[in-house]
Amino acid sequence: MNELRVDISKIYNYIGKEKIYGLKTKAEAANEALHKKTGKGNEFLGWINLQSSISEAEFNQIEETARKIQKEVDIVVVIGIGGSYLGTRAVVEATSDTFIHLKENTDLPYVIFAGQNIGEDYLSELIELLNQKRYAIVVISKSGTTTEPAIAFRILKTHLEKKVGEDKAKELIVAVTDKSKGALRKLASQKGYKTYVIPDDVGGRFSVLTPVGLVPLAIGGVDIRALVNGAVQMEQRCSGKSAFENNPSALYAAARYSLYQKGKKIEILANFDNKLHYLAEWWKQLYGESEGKEGLGIFPASVDLTADLHSMGQYIQEGERILFETVVSVAKPGYNLIIPTDKEDLDGLNFLAGKNIDSVNKMAELGTILAHIDGGVPNIHIEIPEINEYYLGQLLYFFEKACGISGYLLGVNPFNQPGVEAYKKNMFALLEKPGFEAETKNIKNRLK
Ligand code: PA5
Repeated sequence: MNELRVDISKIYNYIGKEKIYGLKTKAEAANEALHKKTGKGNEFLGWINLQSSISEAEFNQIEETARKIQKEVDIVVVIGIGGSYLGTRAVVEATSDTFIHLKENTDLPYVIFAGQNIGEDYLSELIELLNQKRYAIVVISKSGTTTEPAIAFRILKTHLEKKVGEDKAKELIVAVTDKSKGALRKLASQKGYKTYVIPDDVGGRFSVLTPVGLVPLAIGGVDIRALVNGAVQMEQRCSGKSAFENNPSALYAAARYSLYQKGKKIEILANFDNKLHYLAEWWKQLYGESEGKEGLGIFPASVDLTADLHSMGQYIQEGERILFETVVSVAKPGYNLIIPTDKEDLDGLNFLAGKNIDSVNKMAELGTILAHIDGGVPNIHIEIPEINEYYLGQLLYFFEKACGISGYLLGVNPFNQPGVEAYKKNMFALLEKPGFEAETKNIKNRLK
């Protein structure tokens, strides 16, 4: 069977192969430390093998919730932010028909996201839409206290209760949160919502294969069993005993760490299929929050190609040489759309007639990679056979595992995010949240 493949050979000219393979012992030790839970942040390593321990009963329960909700609504609003949002969005956008919401006769609810911004216009326009639609809410927050989703949930819950009555609203709200802590848990218990638990030992950005992702994805019609199977396959491939050269996550981690040591401070994740746009958003959180600390870490950026070659291409080709690029490539598209012959050939495109669009895209991809390498942007190539749940599952776990190894190579704790609190403290001080009196006083003095 074809599987996810990682090719780091195109960086050998820039960093000798021996240098990368010189990290074999360290990378294997990092991988082992993740499995043995002996490294930094070891209280958050539940993601390592959670996919292979999901029981049939757990799948059945999630699928039953999904079926119930699917029957009742046109839209499911998924409320969450960061790790409680991006993984779900990555998989939904990759697997769904882009125009499903404009097509008739779809049995599945359309998934809409909220709670990842505090934009008044966005939520107001969403409410205008929801006035006309039957909808359900999945609210996701591990801490249960994150402000952005809490505000969105308060507003939408109130809207839904007014629209269908409190009793019916209760049936249309699912909460995914901590088993006992946090305001969302308290609220859900008091209101009697259906709830799912986020395990204590899984941090937000590693939680897509817990109910955080599986519940909303199942409601949106994603094949969650295939997604999990893909992750299980990758879990086995990157196991604690897997040798460096056979472990794609270790190879990727070592390659990017070697590039970082040689001054490549920015990694651009590039796709040539816009369905992978949100995969990059998820990846940015995963690597940014895991590695960006103690004055260290590769800055994770992303581009959608070929679109961004017409905006970012100039910089990538000739700007400051602190970049390397990781292309996530898809071997086979889901369709076969042929470029037609045109008698007049006024656009001069007859040289492409008879080819499918993907074959043009592939040449754009190859041409871009070669140009960027020539321009001093080393390239790592990750290929999945096609975009489906199974290969997305592989990709998610591949990146998670590589992130853990990478963080340990760098010497940081990849499983905390102390820096995320700074803006919250200021925001609460400015909003005069009870308990923040001293901070409010300080910030007011500072702004005088
Ligand atoms: O990775 C993390 O832990 C964070 O980015 C969280 O995912 C994010 O802040 C959302 O947190 P919560 O699920 O507690 O609302």
